[in-house]
Amino acid sequence: MSVVLGNVGNTEVIFVKRGEKGYPYEERVGTVFKAEYLDTLLLPLEKDKKVLFVGLGKENVKEPSTAMEISAKACKELKKYEISEYSFNVENLILNKESFVNFAKGIYLSIKAKRSYKSDAKIEEAKVGIVGTNLDISPLLKKAEIISDSIIFARDMVNAPSNYLHPQEFTEEIAEFVKDTAIETEILDEEELRKLKMGGILGVGGSSAFPPYLVVLRYRGNPKSKENTAIVGKGITVDTGGYCLKPSQFMAGIRGDNGGAAAVVGAIAILAKLKAKVNVTAIVPTAENKIAPDSYVDGDVLTSYSGRTIEVCDTDAEGRLILADAVTYAVRNEKATRVLDIATLTGAVVGMYGFTIGGVVTDSDEMWEEFYRASLKTGEKHARIPFGREHEKMLESDIADIKNLGGKFCGTITAGLFIRSFAEKKPWLHVDIAGTAWVDTPDYAYQDKYATGVCADTIAEWLMGL
Ligand code: BES
Ligand code: ZN
Ligand code: ZN
Repeated sequence: MSVVLGNVGNTEVIFVKRGEKGYPYEERVGTVFKAEYLDTLLLPLEKDKKVLFVGLGKENVKEPSTAMEISAKACKELKKYEISEYSFNVENLILNKESFVNFAKGIYLSIKAKRSYKSDAKIEEAKVGIVGTNLDISPLLKKAEIISDSIIFARDMVNAPSNYLHPQEFTEEIAEFVKDTAIETEILDEEELRKLKMGGILGVGGSSAFPPYLVVLRYRGNPKSKENTAIVGKGITVDTGGYCLKPSQFMAGIRGDNGGAAAVVGAIAILAKLKAKVNVTAIVPTAENKIAPDSYVDGDVLTSYSGRTIEVCDTDAEGRLILADAVTYAVRNEKATRVLDIATLTGAVVGMYGFTIGGVVTDSDEMWEEFYRASLKTGEKHARIPFGREHEKMLESDIADIKNLGGKFCGTITAGLFIRSFAEKKPWLHVDIAGTAWVDTPDYAYQDKYATGVCADTIAEWLMGL
C-alpha cells in the first residue's frame, strides 16, 4: 500500500466536470458519459492501458467531503475491476493544500486494510500515483495518512465483534495504538475503580463477566499552558440494554457502542503524531452492558464517583452512567479546564438528524464555535441543540440526586444534561453520534458499511485549530 508522486500502473483516473468540453477522449465517451457527480466510466485503450473517468457534476472540490468522495469513488470502482496500480491525474481539480489532504484521505480510507473476520482474508496491496500538481505533496500525504489511520482504527474498534473485543481487549488495543507516540497511558482496572468508588462504571460493568476499565491518555503538546481539554468517550463494547433488554430487531449493531471512545483515542493519536501544541487528556470508560445474576436493575441507586447518587430508571441508559464517573475523574483528577464528551448515546438523535448529522449540546458558545468551524473543515456535519431549565427538571429524582432517564421527549438533551451535571461547571460540549457512528448503507463514497470512524478527525481538527 503506497501513495506517491508520479505515474503508477497503466490506468489513469481523470476527473470531468459536467458540460466540460475537450477533455481527453471526449469524442469517444462524451455520448455515454454525462459526468454527473460520481458517475464513473472505465475506458479500455490500446494494450493494457485504461482510463477511469469520474464525474464531478457541478460540485465544488474545495468542499471537504466532495474532495474525499471523488478519490474514494475512483479507488472503490477500480477495486471492483481488480485494478490495484493506478494514477490520479489531478490537473484540472485545482486542489489547494487543504483540499489535497481531503482528497488523499479519500484514497487512504479506501485502499488501507480493514480488519476482517473471514478465515481466508487476504490483504490487497494497492499502489497509487498522483500526477498533475505543483504542491509539495509529501507532508500533505503524511498528514492525510495519520488522520486516515485514526479513522480506520476507530472503524475497526467499533466493528469488532463483542466476543473479540471485551473491555480488556479494547483497553489493550488502545494502548497498542498510541504506544509509539508522546502519549502517556494509564489503565485503571476494576479493583482500582472499586477503590475510587466509581459506582457508575462498576454498576454497568457488573452486568458482565468481562470487567470494566478506565483508560487515561495524556498528551502535553503545550507544557507552558495550564489549559487541558478532556475528551471523554463512551466505550461500551456491547449494549444489550441489560435487564431492560433491547427487542431483537434492535440488537443488530449492539457491538458498535464504543464509537465515542474510538473517536477520542483516534483524535489524541492524530494530535500526538502531528505534534499539535495543545494539552489533551483522552478518557475512556469501557464496559459491557449485559445481564448477570447480580446485575444492576431498574430502581437501584448507584453512588457515582462524584458522590452524587443516581436512580437507575432504565438499564439501557448505561452510557451516561459510565460517562458521569469519567467526566468527574477528568475534572477532579486530571484538572481538565474544559470537557468534551462524545457517545453513541440516544436513539432520539437518530430520529432528529439521521445518519449524517451529529447532535451537540453545550453550555459554551466558544467551544461550539470552534467545534463547528472544525466540522466545516472535515465535512462531518453537526447541529447545536438548545436546552433550558425545563430539561434539567426532567432529570429530578424523588429518591436520589438525579435519575438516568428524562421525560418522554427530548431524550438527546436530557442525556447530555445528565452528563453535564458531572462536569462541575467547567465549559462543556457533548456530541451524540448515535446516528453518525454507524451506517448500514453508506451515505458517502469514503465510508464502508457499518462503522464510520466519525469525529476522530473533527475533534483533532478542533484542538489543532486552537
Ligand atoms: N447505545 C444506545 C443508543 C443508540 C441507539 C445507539 C441507536 C445507536 C443507535 C443507548 O445506550 C441507549 O440504549 N439509549 C436509549 C436511552 C433510553 C433508554 C433513555 C435510547 O436512546 O433508546
Ligand atoms: Zn443502552
Ligand atoms: Zn449504549
